[in-house]
Order: sequence, then structure tokens, then C-alpha cells
Amino acid sequence: MKLERIALLTAVLALITAGWGVAEARKLQGRLDRFADGSRTQSSPGASMGSQATNVEQRLKQLEAAAPSPGLFMSAIQLHFAKLYFAGEARNWDLARFERGEILEHLDVVAALRPEEGAVSVTGIMDAFKNTQLVAIKDAIEMKDRGLFRDAYRESIIMCNTCHQATGRPFITITIPTNPPVSNQRWEVPVSGGK
Ligand code: HEC
Repeated sequence: MKLERIALLTAVLALITAGWGVAEARKLQGRLDRFADGSRTQSSPGASMGSQATNVEQRLKQLEAAAPSPGLFMSAIQLHFAKLYFAGEARNWDLARFERGEILEHLDVVAALRPEEGAVSVTGIMDAFKNTQLVAIKDAIEMKDRGLFRDAYRESIIMCNTCHQATGRPFITITIPTNPPVSNQRWEVPVSGGK
């Protein structure tokens, strides 16, 4: 178990150095999962590594305390989700596909940083969201069907708010955007590029 902890700490340090990149956070999630499995199945550690383990544990706690708030990534999701809407409305399916990908990556970071809240499995709700509503959005994008896209978008909003309610934040209510989230981006497919 100690060696796993050291491996985990190394991974966390690498993560912080890399600025909490998305791919790295995914790897961390995998390591955390394996770590959790390991600590359930393995017996208590040998005494010789005791103090080293305490150090690692302290460092781990410090690193956890220094990790960015999931709210940061949720704010990014909010932005990409709003952009997704205007991309779909403008039938810019390439942009919609891109924004959907950004949302998926950021959801994974939130799940890695906050796998659960009390008794609620954030990871579980994320997976349901990714495997249902976000698949419906993908299908609508691939079929270039704006009607299906609008339906899937509305269903996704329900999922955003369901999780906020489940995790004790009913005051965070997502809606269909009325205005574009930024004023310096074109939503329509470029006719002859860059103009
Ligand atoms: C699986 C659970 C879950 C799902 C699904 C989810 N959220 Fe969140 N969201 C959270 C949690 C947990 C927080 C609080 C994060 C914190 O405490 O820093 C949050 C916070 C937020 C915030 C507040 C950020 C801030 O700091 O002001 C926004 C905005 C937000 N979410 C947008 C969305 C949008 C948009 C969607 C859907 C596309 C969504 N969320 C889906 C769990 C979820």
C-alpha cells in the first residue's frame, strides 16, 4: 500500500506541475480508483515504512487542499455548454462537436476532483449524464438534426440541475441561454474561412 501511495503522490505532483491538465486528471482518476481498490484488499503496512507513509499522507493532504475547486471547471462547463447551444442553433456541427468534447473533458476533471459528495456519487451521475443526454447530443450532431439537438440540449439542462439538487446546490439553476456567452466569436459555419 505504501508504494502505491508514493506512486499516487508522484502522480499528484506531476499533475500539479502540469497545471491540472485534463488528460492528467483522467490518469489520476484511474490511479485513485486502483488505490482505493488496493487499500480495500491489502493488509496493514509494515512498521519499517511507517514514518515515510505519514509524510506521504501529509503531503497528499496538502496537495488535496491545494487542488483547484471543481467550481472552476464547472464554470468552464457552463461556458462550453452555452457555446454548444449557439453552435447547434447556427447548425455549425463541427463547432458543436468540439464544444461537446470540451464539456466531456471538464466533467471528467470534476469527477476526479470530487468523486462524491456525502452519500451522493458525483462520478455515478456524471457517467449517467455522459452515457445518456450527452450521447443524444452526439447523435443529433452526427445526424445534423437541430430538432433532436434542441431536445437533447433541454434534457441535458435537466441533468445539470438534477445533479446540483442532488449535491445540495438547488440554487445553481442552468437555463437555455438567451444571449451568446461571448461577443467575439461567430457561431455560423464560415463561408470562406476566417472573415
Ligand atoms: C454530476 C454532478 C454535476 C453535473 C451533472 C453538473 N454539475 Fe455543475 N456543479 C456540480 C457541483 C458538485 C458543483 C459545485 C462545485 C464546487 O463546490 O466548487 C457545481 C457547480 C456548478 C456551477 C457553479 C460554478 C461557480 O463556481 O459559480 C455551474 C455554473 C455549473 N455547475 C454548471 C453546470 C452545467 C452547465 C452543467 C450541465 C452541462 C452541470 N453543471 C452539470 C455538479 C454537477
